[in-house]
Amino acid sequence: MKNIKVGIVGLGRLGIKHAENLSYRIKGCSLIAACSLNEKELLVAEKELGVQHLYKNYDEMLENREIDAIFIASSSSFHKEQIIKALEADFHVFCEKPLALTLEDCYEVKRVVEKNKDKIVSVGLVRRYDPSYVAAKHKIDKNEIGRAFHVRSQTVDMNETAKFQIEFVKSSGGIFVDANIHDVDLARWYLGSEVKTVFSLGGSYIHKEFDDHQDADNVTTLLEFENKSLATISASRTAFHGHGTRTEILCTKGILEIGFSPIKNHVQINDSHGMRKECLETFFTRFEEAFLIEDESFIENVRNKTAPRVILEDAIRATEITLAMRESHLSKKVIKL
Ligand code: NAI
Repeated sequence: MKNIKVGIVGLGRLGIKHAENLSYRIKGCSLIAACSLNEKELLVAEKELGVQHLYKNYDEMLENREIDAIFIASSSSFHKEQIIKALEADFHVFCEKPLALTLEDCYEVKRVVEKNKDKIVSVGLVRRYDPSYVAAKHKIDKNEIGRAFHVRSQTVDMNETAKFQIEFVKSSGGIFVDANIHDVDLARWYLGSEVKTVFSLGGSYIHKEFDDHQDADNVTTLLEFENKSLATISASRTAFHGHGTRTEILCTKGILEIGFSPIKNHVQINDSHGMRKECLETFFTRFEEAFLIEDESFIENVRNKTAPRVILEDAIRATEITLAMRESHLSKKVIKL
């Protein structure tokens, strides 16, 4: 089995988790290089993960010809430039979502991908690798529960993450592109159709600072698809109980619910507050298994030259739709795609 050598850029909240997966959780893969603007993160990569080549400059990492594939987990505003540079330097690429922050940039990436057809390019729409979301998709595809006609999906982060989101709003693309991109991708996947119109509303109900950046802490969108099916998609950055991401798929013979009880463990606490269970706190604990499967799949795609589960078109469409949702929220108008 050919050992796939990886270089990663970005070792922040998520990058370090991918780095751990690539270092010691995946067979036939070595994380040999890491790039970050943050020296402390590079030190962790060196001391705790045994990464040999450390860089503060991305271009310098791309000169390392031992590497087979580049893994991009940097801030979203750098994705476009870093994907293009990696492809032009002849590497396979995994890039965290979103592909880019504008539709023009997505198409620029697409043009470079098309010129490098021998390269594997995968984008991190992680819920497509989550066993529960995949099981729901199989039930729909096998017609076990009828036809899906309405997806209700929400991404809900804990209130304490809001400070981070405000600080990084310029590089994240805002709540629609950053958070709802997953729900939009799921809706397209389950409903098997393209979005026709979107209408979004929302506001900064707890953290007024989001208004300064034309963003919000809670939003909801109604989406109509070409095959007349619907999606209602929400995002919140103000949950107090835990990471409350969940999805409901209304089908002609029943309803599929995914992630409605994001419990941390099976301990029930019975005390003066009543009977309760603690909740998962972050996206990473909820999707830890999915991130590992996603990383393993990319390495397999590179080794066997097979197509990734998420194709470029999915990443472009999801970005286009979430940008339209943002536009609708800001203009308070229905946006046609
Ligand atoms: P973060 O801010 O915690 O970390 C960013 C990292 O990128 C840092 O290591 C920083 O030094 C590095 N970096 C930024 N610009 C760079 C440059 N020009 N050259 C080299 N290094 C650079 O960000 P976080 O939360 O880890 O997010 C990273 C990416 O992962 C984002 O694109 C985000 O959308 C995505 N993400 C995806 C999630 C998912 O569910 N799939 C969940 C969380 C994040």
